[in-house]
Amino acid sequence: MPYHKFLQDVLIDETTLHARIAELGSQISHEYADSPNLLLICILKGGVVFLCDLMRQISVPHEIDFMAASSYGAGARESKGLVRIEMDVRTNIAGRDVLIVEDIIDSGYTLRFIMDTLLARHPRSLKLCTLLNKALRREVEIAVDYVGFEIENKFVFGYGLDLDEKYRNVPFIGVVNEKALRDG
Ligand code: IMP
Ligand code: MG
Repeated sequence: MPYHKFLQDVLIDETTLHARIAELGSQISHEYADSPNLLLICILKGGVVFLCDLMRQISVPHEIDFMAASSYGAGARESKGLVRIEMDVRTNIAGRDVLIVEDIIDSGYTLRFIMDTLLARHPRSLKLCTLLNKALRREVEIAVDYVGFEIENKFVFGYGLDLDEKYRNVPFIGVVNEKALRDG
């Protein structure tokens, strides 16, 4: 496969991903059992593979919507607080139980901006579910309600996460071989 030269290690394999997502789905189903209007908001593009698997493990009736944000920083891999909403949800979230579905939280700037934007619209509740959490990289405070896996500060790809916009279809989470990436 063309991504093999960029792959240093498999960090989380497919079986482990699916088992953990099943656990998250049952926990969410339990905690939102009485919710009349659960809305999952997937953050594009990285969250989309996770959303598709997670929603099929949630037994509570719910709706989905999508949002996209971009952040500008020193390089393509860093956000520095300058975040812009590129695509907004179409749902009116006032009074709704909103659960954000994200691929990864790094510095936290992107999610902080998205959460502040959504909170201003008065949802009944707003919680956050991320597949991956790089807690050591956090620069702004964020309460994360559901975490799939805590990971170290390594650049990862696959299962929705991109390597220069490609390889989101890789079925596992892989660690990038930085040298191979630099050498092209
Ligand atoms: P934050 O604003 O620094 O928390 O950036 C979060 C965003 O950066 C994520 O939604 C991803 O799009 C991207 N990101 C952060 N770390 C990684 C990584 O290891 N691989 C791929 N994308 C990443
Ligand atoms: Mg993202």
